Amino acid sequence: MHQSNRTIINTAKLSQKVGSFLLFLSFMGAAQSLSAQEAIADPNVTFADVAPILYENCIQCHNPEGGAPMSLMDFETAKIYAPLIKHRTGIKDRMGAMPPWYHERDIGLQSFKGDMSLSNDEIAILAAWADAGAPLGDSELVPPAPDVPTGWTIEPDFIVRSGPITVGANEPDWWGIIDGAIEIPLDEDRYVKAVQVREVNDIGSSNLSGRHTVGGKYIIHHAAYTVIAPNSNIFQIAGEGGGIWPVHEVGRNEDRFDDETGPLIKAGSQIILPSVHLHSAGVEATAHLEFGFELFPPGFEPKYERVSVSIGNLGDGVDIDIPAGDGLQVLHTYSVLEKHTKIIAFEPHLHAPGERMCLEAIWGSHQETLSCVGYDHNWVRKYTFGTDAQPLLPKGTIVHMIGWMNNSESNSNIPDARNWQGSGNRSVANMFLELGLEVHLTDDEFVQEMEDRVKMLGATKSDYVLGCPLCLAGVPTPGAKPEDWEE
Ligand code: HEC
Repeated sequence: MHQSNRTIINTAKLSQKVGSFLLFLSFMGAAQSLSAQEAIADPNVTFADVAPILYENCIQCHNPEGGAPMSLMDFETAKIYAPLIKHRTGIKDRMGAMPPWYHERDIGLQSFKGDMSLSNDEIAILAAWADAGAPLGDSELVPPAPDVPTGWTIEPDFIVRSGPITVGANEPDWWGIIDGAIEIPLDEDRYVKAVQVREVNDIGSSNLSGRHTVGGKYIIHHAAYTVIAPNSNIFQIAGEGGGIWPVHEVGRNEDRFDDETGPLIKAGSQIILPSVHLHSAGVEATAHLEFGFELFPPGFEPKYERVSVSIGNLGDGVDIDIPAGDGLQVLHTYSVLEKHTKIIAFEPHLHAPGERMCLEAIWGSHQETLSCVGYDHNWVRKYTFGTDAQPLLPKGTIVHMIGWMNNSESNSNIPDARNWQGSGNRSVANMFLELGLEVHLTDDEFVQEMEDRVKMLGATKSDYVLGCPLCLAGVPTPGAKPEDWEE
């Protein structure tokens, strides 16, 4: 398994003192298995050790202008929150964890783009600091706080905004089409590498309703959007590079497409919002959406024919049947890949009872877990695999999705656990599907991708390439003509 670069970089940044504290723990054989709860109070851990972790992983949201309830850019506030920081970072990969990123570190592929999770070492340092009473230590050693982050986790080439949307303090939920197209300022056709959608609103940290939850911070639960070319309409866009774009949902991170293929925006296109769900934040609030697009260079030609969205049970699952009070119900869905497929990103999609989802690939007698992630319906996350980890699955692979539902009082997202829940589109009904990204590959492309992967990983015959069942199976060498081995 590949150690993520992040862990290595972060550990290198630690001061000497903490280095020796961790060295001591590793000497005891404990550093990797240490949970935050077990961390030993070490009076030598000071804010100088903690600040870099907060700056790198938390202040993107925990800044005076960010979406989080408090800023973690200064010692005084961080100190007040130290016990809560220990608690929330110690949750690791389940609902409530901070940062909100839930991939499980002990199973499946481990390389992701934009991975914001903490390493076990970082979690241990935060816990040790809280247990020691959150000392400042030598203030000279504390690195200066960086500039307040912009909130963009991609590098947008341009940003467009929707019109203002207002929801009153006690209004019921609203669903529908938001009228008015958003002009895209492009005078040539361009392909998109990444897109990020953000809700910007006037709620701020002064929400007097006291709802320091995601629901009290945002009014747009989700917004499905699409990009339509000039003289087109929503029913004709599929072949024009439009199609359904990834849905914006509350708490959701950015979408990064395949490294060499992304959706097309034609010159003069517009964004439309055909399906939006608004809810009250407990105070009257006005918001707009900002769409940031990072583009491939002009003249770029996509390598693969198309980017498709989703695998798994797409039929809105008429069969979901979640008993009242059941804290551990496991659902399964199977789908067969009809083409060679490279999975770019995994995005579990469940509703309030959803607690966890795993993605498994079954190829002949070969069965492997690609990824398992926790789920929090308030913090929908997309997990984009690192370039060295995107599953390469041959056609005929059965993709098995497993969903864990918790419809009991132990799940704080459930309004009333005495209710049975079924399938449907509403927030009180359920879905069980996957909204990831994938590209389809021809035989030649598939063989080439596998060859590249084996080289990238430096894998030998005695290795095992997770997510690529045929990578080391002795397939014909690319470059040798495919007709040599096709019938
Ligand atoms: C992507 C944005 C984001 C990131 C990154 C993030 N947080 Fe948060 N955090 C939030 C939001 C929004 C809330 C309020 C909703 C909630 O409690 O889940 C919150 C809540 C919290 C709370 C609970 C506060 C309370 O009053 O109950 C703590 C503690 C916390 N975060 C610590 C951290 C730490 C430490 C990090 C980094 C290691 C971090 N967060 C990273 C957005 C973020």
